[in-house]
Amino acid sequence: MKQLIVNTYSTGFARLSKKLAALFVVAMLMTLGSQASLAVSKSKVIKPFNNMSKESATCASCHKKENPSLYQQWGRSKHFGANVGCYECHKADAADADAIRHKDFMISVIVSPKDCANCHTEEVKQFSESKHSNGAASIEGSDDHFLAEMVEGAMTFNNQSPMTVSGCWQCHGSKVKVLPNGDLDPTTWPNTGIGRINPDGSKGACTACHQRHEFSLGQARRPESCGSCHLGPNHPQKEIYDQSKHGINFYANQDKMNLDSAKWVAGEDYDAAPTCATCHMSATTEFSITHNTGERISWNLRLPVSEKVDSFEDEEAKPWLLRRKDMKGVCKSCHSANMVNNFYEQFDAVVNLYNGKFAQPGVELMKALKEGGLLTEMPFDEAIEWTWFYLWHHEGRRARQGASMQAPDYTQWHGMAEVSRRFYTEMVPQVKALIEKGQKSDKPELKAGAEKVRQLLDEILNRDEHKWFLGKMSEEMKAHHATQREQFKKRYLPK
Ligand code: HEC
Ligand code: HEC
Ligand code: HEC
Ligand code: HEC
Ligand code: HEC
Ligand code: HEC
Ligand code: HEC
Ligand code: HEC
Repeated sequence: MKQLIVNTYSTGFARLSKKLAALFVVAMLMTLGSQASLAVSKSKVIKPFNNMSKESATCASCHKKENPSLYQQWGRSKHFGANVGCYECHKADAADADAIRHKDFMISVIVSPKDCANCHTEEVKQFSESKHSNGAASIEGSDDHFLAEMVEGAMTFNNQSPMTVSGCWQCHGSKVKVLPNGDLDPTTWPNTGIGRINPDGSKGACTACHQRHEFSLGQARRPESCGSCHLGPNHPQKEIYDQSKHGINFYANQDKMNLDSAKWVAGEDYDAAPTCATCHMSATTEFSITHNTGERISWNLRLPVSEKVDSFEDEEAKPWLLRRKDMKGVCKSCHSANMVNNFYEQFDAVVNLYNGKFAQPGVELMKALKEGGLLTEMPFDEAIEWTWFYLWHHEGRRARQGASMQAPDYTQWHGMAEVSRRFYTEMVPQVKALIEKGQKSDKPELKAGAEKVRQLLDEILNRDEHKWFLGKMSEEMKAHHATQREQFKKRYLPK
C-alpha cells in the first residue's frame, strides 16, 4: 500500500526538477512512516491469557451441546483466541444482586460494563462519561415519556407501560431489577439499551453495539450497529447516512473497507468512505479511539432550539470549539481544510435559520399561551401541543440533522418544508383560534392573556422573514419574484 502511494506521487513529481522530487519523496516517506507508527500505538493490544481457565473449560464443554451457536460465535472471537472464556465474563460475587448459583459456580447472566472493565478500563471510562451511558436516566420526565406512559400506553405490565418496556427502554435502557428468586424481572430484561442501569449499579450495555458472542469489530464499525437506534422520524441518522455520498461510497466499497482489521485509521487502513464510527469514535492519524460519542459534536440538534453542546455542562467540559476542531480533523483525513470549513458554514446557516425563524418563535408562543391560561398544564391534550411537538421533535430535528450529515432531502423535503407547512398552516391558525377563544371568554385574565398572545403573534409575523405571509413583501422582493415567475412560466408552462 505504502509502495503504491509513493509511486503515484513520484509520477506526479516527475515534472519537477529531479532533486526537488527526491526531497519531496523523502519528506512523504517520513510523514507516512511517523503517522503509521503513531496509529499502531493507538490500537491497544491486551495481553491474552496463557491458558483457558478450568472454570471456563467446564462451562464451554457443557454449553457446546446446550447452545451450539453461542459456542461457535465465542469460538470465532478474539476472546477465545486470548483464552477469555465464559467464566471470565459471567463470574459473579455471591454478594452481587444478580448472582445465581449455576452448577458449581456463582455467575450472573448480565455482563455489565463493570465486568468488561476488568480488562477494558479505558473504553469503559470513556463510555461512562458519555451521554450514551445516561440514556436510561435522561428520558424520565420528558414529553416523550408521558406519551409512553399515559397517551399511547397504560401501566398494565407490572405497573409499567408496555410502550416504555418494548419501546423507549429497548433503545435507552431499562433499570434492570432482580426478582427475589434471583431471576431477572421480565419487565426490565432482556434489554440491551444504551444506558441500561445494571444490578451492580454500573450504567450502559456494551452489547448495544458489540453483539455477542463474537464481539466483532467489523460488526460494530458498520452503520447498521448505530442504526438500530439512530433511525426513524425523529432521529433519522441512518437514513441520512445511507443517502449521503458517504453512505453511497460505503455500500459500493464495503469489501475495501478493511472492517475487520485491528488497526482502523482513515487514510491508512481504508479511504473509500467514513462510517458513523469513523466520524464519532474511531482513531485518526492525530487522535485515538473514543467511546464518548459526544467528543466531536458542537451542536445539540435534538433540542427544540439548538444550543452548543457544552451549554448545559459544567465549566470543565470540553468546549464546543475544540470538539468541532476534532471532527474537522476527521474530515481532513479525506478532504481539504477549505471544503470542510465551508461545509460547516452551510451547516451552521441551516441551524441558525431554523432556530431564529421557527423554533424561537414557537417556544415564545407556547410559553405565552400557557402563561395566559389558554392551555392546560397537561401535555398532549390539545391539538397545538402535537403541532409543536411534531415541528421541533420530528421535522425540525430532521432538517438540522440532514444538514449536519449531508442529506439534502432530509434538510429540505422531510425537514424545513414540513416545518414551514406546520408553522404557517397549523400552528398559526391554532394560535389564532386560542386567541379568539380567550377574547370571547368572561374571565378578564383570559382576555388579558389572549391580548398578550395576539401582540406577540403580530410582532412575530411582522418580522422580515415572515412578512411574506401577511402579503407584506417589499416592492423589491415582489419584483424579484415576479421576474423569476415569468421566466419559469416561459420554460415550463404551456403557452
Ligand atoms: C453441566 C452443564 C452446564 C455447565 C457446566 C454450565 N452450564 Fe450454563 N446452563 C446450562 C443449561 C442446561 C442452561 C439452561 C439453558 C437453556 O435454558 O437453554 C444454562 C444456562 C446458562 C445461562 C443462562 C441463565 C439464564 O438464567 O438465562 C448462563 C449465562 C450460563 N448458563 C452460563 C454458564 C457459565 C458461565 C458456566 C461456567 C461457569 C456454565 N454456564 C456452566 C448448563 C451448564
Ligand atoms: C466477553 C464476555 C463474554 C464471554 C467470553 C461470554 N459471554 Fe455470555 N454474555 C455476554 C454478554 C455481554 C451477554 C449479554 C447479557 C446482558 O448483558 O444482557 C451474554 C449473555 C449470555 C447468555 C444469555 C443470553 C442469551 O443470548 O441466551 C448466555 C446463556 C451466555 N451468555 C452464555 C455464555 C457462555 C456459555 C459462554 C462461553 C462459551 C459465554 N457466555 C461467554 C458476555 C460474554
Ligand atoms: C478477562 C478479560 C476480558 C474481559 C472480561 C472482556 N474482554 Fe474483551 N478482550 C480481552 C482480550 C484479551 C482481547 C483480545 C485483544 C487482542 O487480541 O487484541 C479482547 C478483545 C475485545 C474486543 C476486540 C475484538 C477484536 O476483534 O479485535 C472487543 C470489542 C471486546 N474485547 C469487547 C469486550 C466487551 C464488550 C466485554 C464485556 C462484555 C469484554 N470485552 C470483556 C479481554 C477481556
Ligand atoms: C429506536 C430507538 C429509540 C426509541 C424506541 C426511543 N428513543 Fe429516545 N432517543 C433515541 C436516540 C437515538 C436519541 C438521540 C437522538 C439524537 O441525538 O438525535 C434519543 C433521544 C431522546 C431524548 C433526548 C435526550 C437528550 O439528552 O436530549 C429523550 C428525552 C428521549 N429520546 C425519550 C424517549 C422516550 C420517552 C421514548 C419512548 C416513548 C423514546 N425516547 C424512544 C432512540 C430511541
Ligand atoms: C456506540 C457503540 C459502542 C458501544 C456502546 C461500545 N462500543 Fe466498543 N467499539 C465500538 C466501535 C465502533 C469500535 C471500533 C472502533 C474503531 O476501531 O475504529 C469499538 C472498539 C472497541 C474495542 C477495541 C478497541 C481498540 O483499541 O481496538 C474494545 C475493547 C471495546 N470497543 C470495548 C467496549 C466496551 C467494554 C464497551 C462498554 C463499556 C463498549 N466497547 C461499548 C462501538 C461501541
Ligand atoms: C441501543 C441504542 C443506541 C445505539 C446502538 C447507538 N446509540 Fe447513539 N444514542 C442513543 C441514545 C438513546 C442517545 C441519546 C442519549 C441521551 O442524550 O440521553 C444517543 C446519542 C448519541 C450521540 C449524541 C451524543 C452527545 O453527547 O450529544 C451520538 C453522536 C451518537 N449517539 C452516536 C452513535 C454512534 C456513532 C453509534 C454507533 C457506533 C451509536 N450512537 C449507537 C442510542 C444508541
Ligand atoms: C462524515 C462524518 C459523519 C458520519 C459518517 C456520520 N456523522 Fe453523525 N455527525 C457528524 C457531524 C459533523 C455532526 C454535527 C456535529 C456538530 O454538531 O458539530 C453529526 C451529528 C450527529 C449526531 C448528533 C445529533 C443531535 O441531535 O445532536 C448524532 C446522534 C449522529 N451524528 C449520529 C450518527 C450516526 C448514527 C451515523 C451513521 C448512521 C453518523 N452520525 C454518521 C458527522 C458524521
Ligand atoms: C474516509 C474518508 C472520508 C472522511 C473521513 C470524510 N469524507 Fe466526506 N466524502 C468522502 C467521499 C469518498 C465523498 C464522495 C466524493 C464524491 O462524491 O466524489 C465525500 C463527500 C463529501 C461531501 C459531498 C461533496 C460533494 O462534492 O458533493 C461533503 C460535503 C463531505 N464529504 C463532507 C465531509 C465532512 C464534513 C467530513 C467530516 C465530518 C467528511 N466529509 C469526512 C470521504 C470522506
